[in-house]
Amino acid sequence: MTTIPVSPATFHISDKIASSVYEGLLSKPKWLPSWLFYDSAGSRLFEEITRTPEYYVTRTERAILEERASEIVAQAAGQNALRLVELGAGSAEKTRLLLSAAVERQDTVFYEPVDVSASALIEAQMRIEEEIPGVLVCPRVEDYTHNLELDSTLPSERRLVLYIGSSIGNFEPGESLMLLERVRAALDPGDCLLLGVDLVKDEAVLHAAYDDAAGVTAAFNRNVLVRLNRELDADFHPETFAHRAVWNAAESRMEMHLVSETKQTVWLPAIDLRVEFAAGESIHTENSYKYQPGHAEAWLAKAGFVHEATWTDERGWFAVCLARAV
Ligand code: AVI
Repeated sequence: MTTIPVSPATFHISDKIASSVYEGLLSKPKWLPSWLFYDSAGSRLFEEITRTPEYYVTRTERAILEERASEIVAQAAGQNALRLVELGAGSAEKTRLLLSAAVERQDTVFYEPVDVSASALIEAQMRIEEEIPGVLVCPRVEDYTHNLELDSTLPSERRLVLYIGSSIGNFEPGESLMLLERVRAALDPGDCLLLGVDLVKDEAVLHAAYDDAAGVTAAFNRNVLVRLNRELDADFHPETFAHRAVWNAAESRMEMHLVSETKQTVWLPAIDLRVEFAAGESIHTENSYKYQPGHAEAWLAKAGFVHEATWTDERGWFAVCLARAV
């Protein structure tokens, strides 16, 4: 099996998409970055995944926050007013729980969601200001995976940065440490980070969560090929790629792959690339790291935080960690 390398054409589409798809599909084994999942169809499919019976992640974290939101907010604030910052444009209900708990303690709560998508931020701003009186949304368009600057605070304020939803699990270990260090660098001493991490559990539970019976995760995975067809003029036949979810115990991660069911050639004219697939050859599309208890706390310490508390569910499936910048 060979892949025919052709130099990239002048990029008229997003350089970031073009260069990563070019690099990933020329690699052996082939890969695509998981951030490519989140076009508007992919974001909708992800929301649908969170409602499947098998995907325990969202509802387990939400249950922890439902029970502990007031405690978390009180511990993060101490005697100060709290300002909430969220990496990502608001994880809907879960963010609402923390904002509502903060509004009960103080008249006005500033909420600063940070996201690359201006439209997602506008949507979050309208939704949250309408639903939770007392919250003032100050959106920030920024790619926090590369850069993070935050509004300055008053001496009487403390920030609580939310990085929930197990999003950190989609980064490679070195990248997640760098991300935590970047968050730490953007904070003042006394500010807090609330980190949601998914824990290692029974393989069958993990496997079902990433390969649900209704096929929503399979559609989410294949949607990346639909996106490449639209944005790079590619001619993938998504239905000829099987969704595969595997537990990689050595790396402590769930992996998602798209496996070509036939020998085929795909043409991506926008980046002047022809890619050959052998039957059974896969594109690795996502890693979702699962943490051992205590692991996230150790990473937080490495990144310059002092761990203050961890809340988990009864089954020990998910952990929400509060850490303070020192
Ligand atoms: C967004 N992220 C935390 C999800 C996860 O579980 O890694 C993405 C996802 N992939 C398949 N299902 C959900």
